[in-house]
Amino acid sequence: MSTVIAIENLTKDYASGWLRRRFHRAVDHLTLEVREGEIFGLLGPNGAGKTTTVKLLLHLIRPTAGRVRLFGRSPEELTVRAQLGFLPEHPSFPEALTGRELLDYFGRLFGLSRVDRSARIAAVLRQVGIPAAVADRPMRQLSRGELTRIGLAQAVLHDPKLLILDDPMGGLDPDGRRQVRDLLLRLREEGKTIFLSTAVVAEAEAICDRVALLHRGRMRACGSPIELAASGEGGKVEILARDLDARACASLRARGCAVDADRALVRIQAPTSAEVGEWVEVIRQLGGRVIAVSPLQSPLERFFANALTASERLEG
Ligand SMILES: Nc1ncnc2c1ncn2[C@@H]1O[C@H](COP(=O)(O)OP(=O)(O)OP(=O)(O)O)[C@@H](O)[C@H]1O
Ligand SMILES: [Mg+2]
Repeated sequence: MSTVIAIENLTKDYASGWLRRRFHRAVDHLTLEVREGEIFGLLGPNGAGKTTTVKLLLHLIRPTAGRVRLFGRSPEELTVRAQLGFLPEHPSFPEALTGRELLDYFGRLFGLSRVDRSARIAAVLRQVGIPAAVADRPMRQLSRGELTRIGLAQAVLHDPKLLILDDPMGGLDPDGRRQVRDLLLRLREEGKTIFLSTAVVAEAEAICDRVALLHRGRMRACGSPIELAASGEGGKVEILARDLDARACASLRARGCAVDADRALVRIQAPTSAEVGEWVEVIRQLGGRVIAVSPLQSPLERFFANALTASERLEG
């Protein structure tokens, strides 16, 4: 498998403060590779440096240090850009244009004939779940999720080899997220390489071949979701129980549980300090009856939560 994206020691300082003499390091010595045909997820909490990394990848901003190579070349080169589809974090399009007019404009830029354009535009609109009536409305009338979908349609229109998507699930409802997930999986089947950023771990877990966890600009972990999840410890669980009185609830709170008593039903969020079985036993001994137990975090979410706590503890 050849390397499509190579990031080496990438660092970005934003100037800040009075006279712009202070710096904020948004990306800190980031090194990673994305291979041909994989879906790679850049994950991390808000402000972690994901969008900054994406902008550096596209050469929209310049690195303070380090370098980026796409297909082994500089991202500035036109031949590289022609192979690239990009969805910005907050797509902003000319508001008076309709989605179809926008796509037609991009289609012309990429040299598609009129017949090819109309067929291709109809196909990508279908793929992102935009009905014809919505595609023919001025974009100022579109919802955030609809704009994200138009943005995605624009990114895939010219059938690029590499897609760089900054938060492609942003603002989408569950149906929209499923459509985007299906679209990305289909594109991978066609052999495309996809680099996406998201703050929603569960979304990435479902589709990414590999993920990197970014926190305060630094990479804290990288690997396949299964690999990373397997190295984590037990996660938070939610337990629904009956027949717990106020004293029993107080006792659970004293053990570190979040307890939400709603009439007869008690909702308990148990921390990771003990096995699920032990919590069930504690509740039984307090006179309660357990109705349901469910995980609050997916295995990868759990791994990331632990990794973030660890890096915060390390840095103070
Ligand atoms: N132009 C800028 N000037 C100064 N600081 C900036 C600039 N752009 C971003 N930052 C800061 O750099 C850090 C990283 O921002 P970035 O947009 O890359 O985060 P992100 O991971 O994409 O977050 P989100 O999940 O909210 O989109 C943040 O602390 C942000 O405030
Ligand atoms: Mg961002």
